[in-house]
Amino acid sequence: MIHHPAIRKGGTAIVTGAASGIGLAAAKRFAAAGMRIVLADLPGEALETARAEIGATGAEVLARPTDVGRREDMEALREAAGDAPALVMLNAGIEAGGRLFSDDATWRRILDTNLWGVVNGIQAFVPAMIEAGEPAAIIVTGSKQGITTPPGNTPYNVSKAGVKVIAEALAHDLRGRDGATISAHLLIPGFVYTGLTRARGVAEKPDGAWTPEETVEFMIEAMARGDFYILCPDNETTREQDERRIAWAAGDVIENRPALSRWHPDFAEAFRQSTSQ
Ligand code: NAI
Repeated sequence: MIHHPAIRKGGTAIVTGAASGIGLAAAKRFAAAGMRIVLADLPGEALETARAEIGATGAEVLARPTDVGRREDMEALREAAGDAPALVMLNAGIEAGGRLFSDDATWRRILDTNLWGVVNGIQAFVPAMIEAGEPAAIIVTGSKQGITTPPGNTPYNVSKAGVKVIAEALAHDLRGRDGATISAHLLIPGFVYTGLTRARGVAEKPDGAWTPEETVEFMIEAMARGDFYILCPDNETTREQDERRIAWAAGDVIENRPALSRWHPDFAEAFRQSTSQ
């Protein structure tokens, strides 16, 4: 397979949330492609273990304790990483049990990490990448919950709806620049068995979930095709089902249905029919 030109031997890949799950699998995959890896995650044993594991493969790897929600941490990460990166994956994310009526601190923690982490990453890294003028890529990890916004994890949904908007604006900005050498991508994972799933109390990979490695392989193939929206299926949800769910959510506005009508008892049958065709 021919990779996206950002995935190249000797180029630097910076991954946030790299000590676990999708970020760790991506860092390993970029290392296997011969890239120099900068792992950014909260300080702790998981980050050190990730550094040791990837270092043991012979890859050049730097681990940098970083709280993505803090601009100064992201700027220190840029300094530590050296030259402009070929690839930045802004992937750190938490659910933290946030609900609509969660306290201020919970809302802020989720938005600081999931939303500000992406803003901070883009503002810290992208200007130097534009300046370098080399082929490069920025991947932002979003979520289907940022598109269909199901009831429940409202702060998480808000953060993921926000990063979709930010990634779209970034893609638009970058394609209008000289040479358009840098691309942006929105990774929209399906159900993936990771630390985030384990934090919900799920002790073993459910059959319906993909592994982080499957998700990353799908992402690499989509990037090679030049896809912006990397909408991943999993073992229980097909692309066709996702398409109908997304169309239904957009249809709420167009059809003037009640908010989140997919979960409204009066619309249960209509939704079921629309997604079972
Ligand atoms: P994970 O919990 O295995 O990995 C997330 C990593 O982010 C952890 O290592 C954690 O320490 C790190 N992190 C948390 N707060 C941080 C901060 N302030 N600064 C730096 N690092 C921080 O979870 P997973 O699933 O690999 O999550 C990766 C991304 O994928 C997240 O953005 C998540 O929202 C997204 N996602 C995951 C899905 C799933 O089913 N697992 C589905 C849709 C999206």
